[in-house]
This record gives sequence, C-alpha cells and structure tokens, in this order.
Amino acid sequence: MKKRKTILVFGANGFIGQHLVRRILKDTDWYVLASDLKQNHLKEHRGNSRLELHDGNIRNRKLVRKLVSRADVVLPLAGIATPKIYITNPLLVHEIDFEANLEIVRDCLEMKKRVIWASTSEVYGMSTDKEFHPLESNLVMGPIHKMRWIYAAGKSLVDRIIFAYGRDRGLEYTIFRPFNWIGYGQDDIHDTSGKPRVITQFLGSILRGGKIELVDGGSNRRSFTYIDDCIDALIKIIENKKRIASKKIYNIGNPKNNHSIKEVAEMLLELAPSYPYFKDHCKETRIVITGSGKHYGEGYQDMINRTPYIRNTKKDLGWNPKVNLRQALKKTLAAYVEELNQEEKSK
Ligand code: UGA
Repeated sequence: MKKRKTILVFGANGFIGQHLVRRILKDTDWYVLASDLKQNHLKEHRGNSRLELHDGNIRNRKLVRKLVSRADVVLPLAGIATPKIYITNPLLVHEIDFEANLEIVRDCLEMKKRVIWASTSEVYGMSTDKEFHPLESNLVMGPIHKMRWIYAAGKSLVDRIIFAYGRDRGLEYTIFRPFNWIGYGQDDIHDTSGKPRVITQFLGSILRGGKIELVDGGSNRRSFTYIDDCIDALIKIIENKKRIASKKIYNIGNPKNNHSIKEVAEMLLELAPSYPYFKDHCKETRIVITGSGKHYGEGYQDMINRTPYIRNTKKDLGWNPKVNLRQALKKTLAAYVEELNQEEKSK
C-alpha cells in the first residue's frame, strides 16, 4: 500500500496554517502534523484521525526535530508578519522569523526533507518595477534605522540561504511569496492595539464605529489575494507533480486586485451595511488621514505599489486566482459574522 504523505505545518493555527490544514483535511488523503502555541482555530478538527495537534513553540528544538524527522514535507509558517511589530519589537521578529526558522530549514537539510518556505512580497521592498519578478527584480530596502525592513531583510536572507543549500548541498525546496493574502482569521478583529493588518484593522473600526485611519492618505497600493486562491496554489506546490515546483520561487498574488488603501476603505464602508454587527455602527465610522510616523512610529517606510509577476506560477502550477476584491471582502465579512454569532451564543 502507498504510504500517505505526511505534511508538517508549523504555525498551523495562524492565518495561512488554519486555512491550509482545513483544506488538506477536506480535499486530500494526507496526514497532518500541526504545531502551534494556540489551537483555537483548529478545534473543529479535533478527533480527525489524519490530524495530530502539538502544543508547539518553534524554539523548542527537541520537539521541532522530532516532528521534522516524521514528515515528508515541512511548511515553517510560524512567524510575525505585522508591520507594527517590525517597528515596536524588531528583535523578536528577528529571533522568530529568522533565527528559529533557519534552524528548521537546517533540520530539513540534515534529515533530507522537502521544505516549502514562506518568503514575502516585502522582499521586493521599494522596487519601482511595474510587476515584481522573482528572478529579475532587485530587492530594494531602506536604511538601517528604518526598522520596518528587519522582516524583509531576514526573510530574503533565508531565501538566499535556501537557494545556496539547494544549489550546493541538495536541499529540496520551494519558496513562495504571499502578496497581501486576505480573509477570515488573519488577525484578531477585537484587537484595538493598532497591530492588525489593514483589512482586519478597518473591519474592527467599522464594528466599533471608530476611525478608519488612512496612513499618509491611503494612496499606496497593494494586490490583495483571497486566501482560498492562495491555498489552491499551496496545495499544488505540496503535490509537486513531476517535481515541477522543485527549487522554484513563486509569487502568489492577484495582480488584477491592485487597489489603493483608500479604495479598500471605501469599498468596506459600502459593503458593511449589508452585514449584521457591522451595520450597527458603520454610520458613525469616519475615514481620517494620519501620518505614518504617528500610526507606526519613526521606523516606518512604505512601498508605493506592489504587483506580482505570476506568469510562471500560473504556467507551472496550472493556477489562476479567481476571487476579486469585492468578493473577497464579502466572504471575509460573512465569515466574521459567523464568528460574532458564535461569540454571542457562548456569552
Ligand atoms: C504586509 C506584511 O508585512 C506581511 O503580512 C506580508 O509579508 C506582506 O505585507 C504581504 O502580505 O504581502 P503591508 O502590506 O504593509 O505588509 O500590510 P498592512 O499592514 O496590511 O498594510 C497595507 C497598507 O495599508 C499599508 O500601506 C499601510 O500603511 C496601510 N494601512 C494599514 C492604513 O492605511 N491604515 C491602517 O490602519 C493599517
């Protein structure tokens, strides 16, 4: 009998992890080793015979090595991916995103496991290319006191180390770069600390009838990509038919969903009145303009635009992102209504 593929997911309770685990259990016969500090987003799967849950800190070397030794494919998804924390706690970002994750990559090299590494669109930094190309674009970061870049610098150095391990020591890998993946479960909608990323931040403001802050006027643009489209691509990378994804770097993003942050705020305010909870205070919600220094702190710097080149991703993986921004926001709103209903019931 053919052995089931065993997929190890670090950060399984996080935004990407929870959606990936759900999809693997639904659509494949793979076995999942899931590790995270928290498990609240995975509780629906408790008791599933193809899932093993571990209370895992990626700095627990003994546990990490034990899990890696049992896996066929390893996805180190645990990390900090919120710009506010790059500035307020850069050393923690370095220790988790770079140091702890590099150890996992080295475990994969030593134990000959395939690693699927979550890089980031942030590595392209302030590139002025119309589309960011994984093999051709320069990676453009600001000066050292602009702390925002500690995340991108760490991620891109791991990208380079993985590439060298692949070329010189036979590491099997695929690197993927998420471009503003969005959907339910990205950050905590009740978090008022200013840490959540833009969609959760704005949804929380609408829920509470607070202020939507457009940093530096909200003219900067991102290419938003709905999580279900992203997971489609990740599943194909894990499958790796004919080893098509081996030693490749893929952008995973939707260039057709390129919008300014101001447009996102306006679209959310237009949609909110159709959703319970969100409709309650949306009339009180105000859009205001703020400075990046005030919102994030002095170490912030931003990119004006960010659009992925995805022709190679589409061709190799037979993948095409389908969900436009409006549909993505509607799905996200509906999923949060579901969560708020559950919270209401458990009061
Ligand atoms: C994100 C994060 O670094 C990572 O999650 C990830 O690696 C990468 O980019 C990605 O997902 O591609 P960023 O796009 O700046 O960085 O993330 P957000 O915090 O969602 O901010 C997006 C834009 O909205 C920025 O221009 C920011 O200044 C603006 N913003 C954010 C506001 O105008 N108001 C807010 O309240 C929050």
